Amino acid sequence: MNDRTQNRNASEKKAAAASAVSLVRDGMVVGIGTGSTAAYAISKLGKLVADGLDIVGMPTSYQSEMLALQQKIPITTLSEHPEIDIVLDGADQIDRNLVAIKGGGAAHAKEKVVAHAAKRVVLMVDGAKVVPGLTHVVPIEILPYAVAVVDAEVRAIGGIPSLRMAARKDGPVVTDNGNFVIDADFGAIDDPGRLNREIDATIGVVEHGIFLNVDEVHIGTVGGVRILKK
Ligand code: A5P
Repeated sequence: MNDRTQNRNASEKKAAAASAVSLVRDGMVVGIGTGSTAAYAISKLGKLVADGLDIVGMPTSYQSEMLALQQKIPITTLSEHPEIDIVLDGADQIDRNLVAIKGGGAAHAKEKVVAHAAKRVVLMVDGAKVVPGLTHVVPIEILPYAVAVVDAEVRAIGGIPSLRMAARKDGPVVTDNGNFVIDADFGAIDDPGRLNREIDATIGVVEHGIFLNVDEVHIGTVGGVRILKK
C-alpha cells in the first residue's frame, strides 16, 4: 500500500467512525471495538464525553480499554452490564449481505461476545473492505494445547491454516485471553453460514472471525459515508 492509499484509507476510516459515533445517545452502554478504525471512534467519543455525553463503554480488548481510559470514557464490564445498546467496531472485510470477517488484531473473541450481547451491531470500514464475496483469511482463536488438532480439522474442511506469529515477540501471537490464533485461508467463501457452523463445531476453537449478526455498516468513501443496513 502506498502513502496515498494509506492516507485515503485513514480519512475514510475516520469519516466512517464519525458517522457511526453520531448514533450514540445519552445513557447508552456502548461496546467499544478494537483496531485503527475503532481508535478513531474512541477519540471522537472521548471528545463528546468531555462535552457532557453520558455513556459507559464496554471495551473489547486491552487496546480499546487503554484508549478509552486515556480519553476518560467511563468503562464497565459485562458482569455489570450484560446488555449493550450499541457496539461500534471495525472489520477486515465485509460483503453486501453484511457478513464480516474480523480478527486482524486478534481481538475477535471478545468482540464477538460483545456483538452477541449488543442490541445493535454497527461496523465502520474504509471502502476497500467492502467486497461482493468474502476472500479474507478467517482468524480462529484456539486453545494452544489443541493447535495440531485444529490445524488438521481446518485442512479437513478445506482451509489452509497458518499459525499467526508475533511481530515483536519470538513465537506465536498470544491473545488477550492467553490463546493462539490460526489464520485459515478458505479462498472464496461461497457459503459463510456453513463455514461458520463448521468452524464452530471444531474442537479446540474458542471463537472465529466470521460475524453474521451485523446490523449496519458505515463505509467511508472518497465521496462521503455510505450506510448499508440489514
Ligand atoms: C480486531 O481483532 C479486528 O477485528 C479489527 O476490528 C479489524 O481487524 C479491523 O481493524 P482496522 O480498523 O485496524 O482495519
